[in-house]
Amino acid sequence: MHTLALFGGTPVRSRPFTPWPVFGQPEEERLLATLRSGNWGRLDGPEVAEFEQRFAALHGCKHGIAVANGTVSLRIALLAAGIGAEDEVIVPPYTFVSTASAVVEANAIPVFADVDLNTFNMDAAAVEAAVTGRTKAIIPVHFAGHPADMEAMMTIARARRLIVIEDAAHAHGARYQDRPAGSLGHLASFSFQSSKNLTSGEGGIITTNDDALAESCRSIQNCGRVPDGIWYEHHVISGNYRLGEFQGALLNCQLDRLEEQTRTRDVNGRYLASRLAGLPGLHPQRRLADCTRHSYHLFMLRIDASFGAPRAAVLTALEAEGIPCSAGYGYSLPDQPLFRNKAFGPYLPVASASLDYSQAHCPNSDLLCREQCIWLEQNLLLGSREDIDDIGRAFEKIYEHRQALNTRDLLI
Ligand SMILES: Cc1ncc(COP(=O)(O)O)c(C=O)c1O
Repeated sequence: MHTLALFGGTPVRSRPFTPWPVFGQPEEERLLATLRSGNWGRLDGPEVAEFEQRFAALHGCKHGIAVANGTVSLRIALLAAGIGAEDEVIVPPYTFVSTASAVVEANAIPVFADVDLNTFNMDAAAVEAAVTGRTKAIIPVHFAGHPADMEAMMTIARARRLIVIEDAAHAHGARYQDRPAGSLGHLASFSFQSSKNLTSGEGGIITTNDDALAESCRSIQNCGRVPDGIWYEHHVISGNYRLGEFQGALLNCQLDRLEEQTRTRDVNGRYLASRLAGLPGLHPQRRLADCTRHSYHLFMLRIDASFGAPRAAVLTALEAEGIPCSAGYGYSLPDQPLFRNKAFGPYLPVASASLDYSQAHCPNSDLLCREQCIWLEQNLLLGSREDIDDIGRAFEKIYEHRQALNTRDLLI
């Protein structure tokens, strides 16, 4: 193939990929109707309530409680589940900070259990090893949209009466053993932040089939109010975490698009994985048979030394070929300054003295962060087969020219 674009050759691709978010006339009309109605708050209009019902039903749940974002949804789920001061909650180290910081914000202790190097999801054996007498909950993340090993997680949880909260921030529409993500644990948390597969800029939702947990979440979301209480009556410590009607209106439109988008990403993701797996040193996220639908919030892969060029150089070369990409997280969570310095503010006043996150043993997460992970964002998978072939061709071209990437200073 021709010279790498990085060194002056013609890029594999000069057209942009499908932009994100996708929106059109339905969004414009529904937002305008909400504007004109003057019913802008959660308690004033029908949009959020309608969305909660639709989203919950689509994810196999009786209840959906919409909230301000996918961080506060985790914290509310923990509080609703009765996680107490300085209880332990097992979380993966390879995830967005919220999965663990929400635990601290519930005044509980995050305990890290490493991820599997092939699926990038929390490893059941590591979870088992992390359980102590103080463990009260597990938060498996369906990372990138590939459902976590939920059968193993629920088996561990049942044996010890632990609560399982799915962090489904990446997993709208994903399915495990043909059951929807969001209905697999006791509670689940989704995010609608800008990059997510279903978005209103900011937002989140908790889903559950448990009536009592739902009632508790709804109360915490709404200033501690209870269904039969008078307006200025507050029963539990909480706040105003409600989602607004403009976001509800947007989400109702975006939800109409989700099914088709998810199917497209799943088909394209599978195809890209099979194409890239043919190149030495590339390891696309392994898809387990239990994953009956991958929502591909990210297309993730590992690159190892047998590819013949370092990750940083490959990323630079991919960008030059017209393929947007990144290395993902720069830190495994226990290495984040937040955890290294135990900068927990007023939380964990007693336990933090004896915590030492430098001792967390998460070699797989470390390897992914430091050397191996590559992320492609979900909108790259929303286009045609030609788009995916371009990604494949770019990797192939870079592999062919890998020697050149070792001779220049391309580390970023
Ligand atoms: C795995 C995971 N959990 C939780 C969150 C938090 O969601 P939000 O950004 O809506 O607070 C994110 C979002 O980035 C995430 O990726």
